Amino acid sequence: MSDDLLRERAGRLDAADGLAKIRDRFTLDETVYLDGNSLGALPATVAPRLRDVIEREWGSLRIRSWDESGWWTAPERIGDRIGALIGAATGQVVAGDSTSVNVFKAVVAAVRMAGEERTEILVDAATFPTDGYLAESAARMTGRTVRPVGAGDMADAIGERTAVVLVNHVDYRTGRLHDLAATTAAAHAAGALVVWDLCHSAGALPVDLDAHGVDLAVGCSYKYLNGGPGAPAYLYVRRDLQPRFDSPLPGWNSHADPFGMSPDYSPADGSARGRVGTPDILSLLALDAALDVWDGVAIADVRAKSLALTDFFLECVERYVPSGRVSSITPAAHGQRGSQVALRCDDAGEVMRRLTARGVVGDYRRPDVLRFGFTPLYTRFADAELAARVLADVLREVDEEAGTEPGTASAEPGGEAGAPSGHDTGEGNR
Ligand SMILES: Cc1ncc(COP(=O)(O)O)c(C=O)c1O
Repeated sequence: MSDDLLRERAGRLDAADGLAKIRDRFTLDETVYLDGNSLGALPATVAPRLRDVIEREWGSLRIRSWDESGWWTAPERIGDRIGALIGAATGQVVAGDSTSVNVFKAVVAAVRMAGEERTEILVDAATFPTDGYLAESAARMTGRTVRPVGAGDMADAIGERTAVVLVNHVDYRTGRLHDLAATTAAAHAAGALVVWDLCHSAGALPVDLDAHGVDLAVGCSYKYLNGGPGAPAYLYVRRDLQPRFDSPLPGWNSHADPFGMSPDYSPADGSARGRVGTPDILSLLALDAALDVWDGVAIADVRAKSLALTDFFLECVERYVPSGRVSSITPAAHGQRGSQVALRCDDAGEVMRRLTARGVVGDYRRPDVLRFGFTPLYTRFADAELAARVLADVLREVDEEAGTEPGTASAEPGGEAGAPSGHDTGEGNR
């Protein structure tokens, strides 16, 4: 198919896209922004809401806002809004802290629930590093050991000594979607608990935590939930487990009567038990406003568009990029694909730097991965087509400069040596 035909098809797909209008809810320009799997774009509601929070709620009402503006209960209220996007009924999700801190709470609490005879924590071998670091620390603190297991092999590895299984729902590097239903069922069949990291799936695809009986889950809100840089994360604890949730960080905000100022700790009921200290109100309320973009949006439609976008991008890459110059490490099967496409590519750091300079923003993962995130709420099919076309141009340029034939390995190895700064390549993002 010629370039023109792909461009025309992109136009037709955008015209028929039921989510196309949602893009207007964001502050965007003509940059092809394919890094919403790292930092979501800015929803238009956030700035006016924060202005009101700062000027009126904080500026005028001051301390009265803890009650009168609902600041005190914001973590549970916003947690419920996130819950609606990940298949959790109200009262089970609390917003706050970072994903890292919530991984720690969830893993230690799960180990405590699992019982003494269960000595092992299984961790997704390709996990985002922070989960692994925290699981190690949790294991040391609780006298358990950590065993890395491939997320796809988890079901077979779970046994009678397994206390908890910690898995990333979508692999941050490859975009592979793991089988939440089967792994959760296998953990339960063996009497173990499971903690899911939803950073790369929440807001991109249906998660259905309640339907699958997931025990605990964590995630961030700055990617597909568009909550802003460093936006609060969240913690899900299934309702029937909440009375047994013994937090390793029992701060005063999770006390049943925080203002009783008792020297003795008595945990709150419900999702508030997952709180620690004073909530980060400005960030929380930015996230609250950001969640307005979901009004009237069905996550099933988001998933359908995500798969169509990633299919179309892969088709355009195949059409435009010389054969063999890049290879996708994202599964082709829809059932195993999140909402990103990761391409292995020689000189990936340099290629991403040039893409970014030309207004196509993805990110680079060492040593040789280009990541392109597709956020169905604002990414257009035309963006996917243009990104693939510019990628092909950049690769041609790099190969010409290096004096190599397009389609053959380039002269310069990918990786650290000579790599441009992480800032330019999007490496600073997650
Ligand atoms: C899968 C995954 N888990 C955990 C984290 C870390 O989150 P935080 O920095 O909020 O602790 C990230 C960050 O991108 C991530 O992608």
